[in-house]
Amino acid sequence: MEVVIVPSAQQGSALAAGAIAQLLRTKHDAVLGLATGSTPLGVYDELARLHTDEGLSFAEARGFALDEYVGLPPDHPESYREVLRREIVGRVNFAPGAVRTPDGWASDLPAACADYEQAIVAAGGVDLQLLGIGTDGHIGFNEPSSSLASTTRVKTLTPQTRADNARFFDDDIDAVPEHVLTQGIGTILRARHLVLLAWGENKAAAIAETVEGPIRAMMPASALQLHPHATVIVDDAAASLLQKADYYRYVYDHKPAWQGI
Ligand code: PGA
Repeated sequence: MEVVIVPSAQQGSALAAGAIAQLLRTKHDAVLGLATGSTPLGVYDELARLHTDEGLSFAEARGFALDEYVGLPPDHPESYREVLRREIVGRVNFAPGAVRTPDGWASDLPAACADYEQAIVAAGGVDLQLLGIGTDGHIGFNEPSSSLASTTRVKTLTPQTRADNARFFDDDIDAVPEHVLTQGIGTILRARHLVLLAWGENKAAAIAETVEGPIRAMMPASALQLHPHATVIVDDAAASLLQKADYYRYVYDHKPAWQGI
């Protein structure tokens, strides 16, 4: 696992967007794994800028969301289908239908999950997966105790995650759905490059356990330790509880310039 500590979320977002841009320039039909929440918004702003200012094209790219709420009204502004349309898909030139979210409106949710797994495989797998991290260490909506081998399925959100996400629902925790569809940790681990982002002090404990703690289902993001190409990009505040911060800084400062993240 590579840990990159940056002075600001803006610099970290530019680094992640740069890796996505580099991928798209060399593989026009790359498959991107898209995350929602506040964390990746700066990456999406930078990708939109690269599209507008430098002609970065998404015309042949495909995308898969990590997760979706179950049963929100279809036009609800906080459904992840709608969030992704607003934050990235509608700001660049993805082809219609090129970005999929799990179908949280399906009458048969387990079948929708199986379809989603199959669609990722049929697309050739995810090339680069963006990830945020919950304060409880979740990735996607794989809450603590999720199987590290899990695939896309229905999950129940913890009260902590519903409280964390209430800010997107006018601070009304009762408006946050109880159930979600999420790619599993096993699904996520099949992506070829994982890029986990975290900004701010409230993520510091989860980041320390993810990077330096044991691999365990109670800290789902710790599964990244099993991945051959995982990059954790954190600002100084999110890095503040890392014991080996100086070592990560040294390694990043001395890596070969051609290597990228
Ligand atoms: P956030 O959420 O980006 O809004 O902090 C991250 C997550 O819950 O995965």
